[in-house]
Amino acid sequence: MEPVVLSLGGSVLIRDDGDTAYLRKLAKILIGLSSSYKLYVVTGGGRIARYYIGAGRDLGADESFLDELGIEVTRLNARLLITALGDRAYHVPPSNYDEALQAGKTHSIVVMGGVSPGITTDAVAALLAERVKAKRLVNATSVDGAYSADPKKDPGATRISKMTHEDLIALVGSTPAGAGPSVVFDSVGAKVLERSKITLAIVEGRDLANLRDAMEGRAFKGTIVV
Ligand code: UTP
Repeated sequence: MEPVVLSLGGSVLIRDDGDTAYLRKLAKILIGLSSSYKLYVVTGGGRIARYYIGAGRDLGADESFLDELGIEVTRLNARLLITALGDRAYHVPPSNYDEALQAGKTHSIVVMGGVSPGITTDAVAALLAERVKAKRLVNATSVDGAYSADPKKDPGATRISKMTHEDLIALVGSTPAGAGPSVVFDSVGAKVLERSKITLAIVEGRDLANLRDAMEGRAFKGTIVV
């Protein structure tokens, strides 16, 4: 079965706004898709990761320790999605890419979080896509695509419907280095996708019909990076 990787932003999963209802609907869609595709999902840490990272920073922890705090939260979110998916999903989040590959041999859905300091789950998803030989990665995030500037800060920002990998690398190139950044896609991940020519679809994660279209490689609302 064709592998497809989904990078599911923590900000999409945990919003304090109908989260369990969303998780149930998302699980139903993923289970449906898993009849046709081998699914690998990487969950982000979102607001809860940022809370722990901020608290740890206040307490004087170093950046790599803060990354470890973030990773724990991404794995916690992975467990929550696994709970919603039931038996179709591998029962625990793998802690590295080889384990994920192995888990994919026995299960049609594998859900994992972060693996190592210094990156975000977007990069994990990109590296996992390389490992499982996926041609397509879908990034489900809180905005409906990549914009010319941060749409939450700049009202004049415009959505870019199609761009090249080089364009994406230029757009996200200035990602701040500290733990807990928030950009449309991780700069390390963007470079990984470019070197392996993996298509990236960036979509708003709560619009499930649109997310499904992107996962199936159909036309969708958002940004396609080829
Ligand atoms: P996320 O991938 O959630 O980062 O990981 P994010 O940029 O905050 O993304 P959204 O908002 O969920 O979309 C949270 C933090 O966990 C650490 C990093 O500090 C990251 O910012 N992390 C995560 C790692 O160090 N390594 C990993 O493999 C994953």
